[in-house]
Amino acid sequence: MTKTRRDRLRSQDWFDNPDHADMTALYLERFMNYGTTPEELRSGKPIIGIAQSGSDLNPCNRHHLELAKRVRDGIRDAGGIPIEFPTHTLFENCKRPTAALDRNLAYLGLVELLYGYPFDGVVLTTGCDKTTPSALMAAATVDLPAIVLSGGPMLDGWHEGELVGSGTVIWRSRRKYAAGEITRDEFLETALDSAPSIGHCNTMGTASTMNAIAEALGMSLTGCAAIPAAYRARGQMAYRTGRRAVELVHEDLRPSDILTRAAFLNAIKVNAAIGGSTNAQPHIMAMAKHAGVALEPGDWQTHGYDIPLLANVQPAGKYLGERFHRAGGVPAIMWELLQAGQIEGSCPTVTGQTMVANLDGCESSDREVIFPYHAPLMERAGFFVLSGNLFDFAIMKTSVISAEFRDRYLCEPGREGIFEGTAFVFDGSEDYHARINDPALGIDERSILVIRGAGPLGWPGSAEVVNMQPPDRLLKRGITSLPTIGDGRQSGTADSPSILNASPESAAGGGLAWLRSGDRIRIDLNTGRCDMLVPETEIAQRKTEGLPPIPASATPWQKIYRETVTQMADGATIRGAEEFHRLAARLPRH
Ligand code: FES
Ligand code: MG
Repeated sequence: MTKTRRDRLRSQDWFDNPDHADMTALYLERFMNYGTTPEELRSGKPIIGIAQSGSDLNPCNRHHLELAKRVRDGIRDAGGIPIEFPTHTLFENCKRPTAALDRNLAYLGLVELLYGYPFDGVVLTTGCDKTTPSALMAAATVDLPAIVLSGGPMLDGWHEGELVGSGTVIWRSRRKYAAGEITRDEFLETALDSAPSIGHCNTMGTASTMNAIAEALGMSLTGCAAIPAAYRARGQMAYRTGRRAVELVHEDLRPSDILTRAAFLNAIKVNAAIGGSTNAQPHIMAMAKHAGVALEPGDWQTHGYDIPLLANVQPAGKYLGERFHRAGGVPAIMWELLQAGQIEGSCPTVTGQTMVANLDGCESSDREVIFPYHAPLMERAGFFVLSGNLFDFAIMKTSVISAEFRDRYLCEPGREGIFEGTAFVFDGSEDYHARINDPALGIDERSILVIRGAGPLGWPGSAEVVNMQPPDRLLKRGITSLPTIGDGRQSGTADSPSILNASPESAAGGGLAWLRSGDRIRIDLNTGRCDMLVPETEIAQRKTEGLPPIPASATPWQKIYRETVTQMADGATIRGAEEFHRLAARLPRH
């Protein structure tokens, strides 16, 4: 699979261009002002960007500021020249109204940087949720040789002898707090104990999921995703990644060689086997779109649903990132899938070898954490795809359906997999918080909680709010989750089997817009249907009343985002951006 580089490096068009001596002089003089010499810049050595996603504003990725030193060492030792630059910060749990709004902004920014500056290749530093997809989306569009360096998860969190994982502990503790089982201080203490070190979320939330997916796609070195941020192996991985970035340029190995449909199907399967985040759905769609790969929303059902859960990691399982890494991490999961004939092993990867070669000898020896394919933690654990008159597309994460939930809702004799309940509709999370504990609403265990106005247009950006908690009085009776439906998302660390990412969303005129509290909803997991049991004539009448209100755009970007964004089923990408491919094949004008 090794190709040979084109005769001339892309960066030489900036630094060594005899036809444009004036511009060359201009470019050279300022790059030298921190000690870089014209000899280096004109040496014909590849210039490797380090797309730095760490900053004080993104604590999950902040240690990349340190790791980048090892990346630089690797680049230098392999005969390249590093140039580090910042990317738009994407810090998941602090950006309001949601970091999802900024994924496309970070994508746009990185496309401009990679295309408009003298890079021959790039190291993508990733970690916190959307730092990974935005970087890979941009790398796919520009198509410079690129390699992912994950930052790695935090060390395992412990509280009073129990493992406490990022996010998951918050969703679990808030139920205990609402039920009056713990105090506010205990709630806070447990949450703080879940974050013992540098790194990103230590559960299989969106961060660990997306880094696993980067590796499954073949875009990082083998074993990169799961190494905890604080382990010495993380710095060694940074060095090797830097070295490999230079070789990728010499081999002319680009994202377009690696990001094929087969690679994306591998990623969908890995996501099921690790009990990965529901956010993987829009992100994988978005990356595929920018890579020019045809992926359909239904591919999640066709290729992902039947895959069993193999990783015993929270929120679907028990353990956290450190133990997952020691059990073999992503390569051990992929090894299982490969033996079972579920992975396409011939996919090229950034190692320069095929996936099957990378996975040689990667069988796990810790069967408490990584289960064998034929004796899994759970059968058929992928995303279940639903449609009906409420939406054309939504997903449900089956790996987090608890036995209690299954018994209560999906096991009525003669009606297995079918649930009918009464809808309670909330317009955004403020409405939910204001009314959920109002006893006059009459919410009980046969209710279905619905939230709308939480999609890409409605929020805007799409919010992680669908995993709505039942009213406190139900929690006190031990009812820890109700069926929930929404056009928003939920945190990858949540353990709720919500029906989410509904597309089209309410604000785009999807069926959720016409639902009223008190309507009956029928969910049928045998047929994949989810419908409001409301006559067509009545729905038509409601349509004349107009869409539920959504907040006005508060920033210029919110307005631009709303004007350009696609629905969750299509990855919530920028409409039309997928027309731009392989930008690096042509040099920008002077
Ligand atoms: Fe950044 Fe979870 S909040 S990784
Ligand atoms: Mg999240």
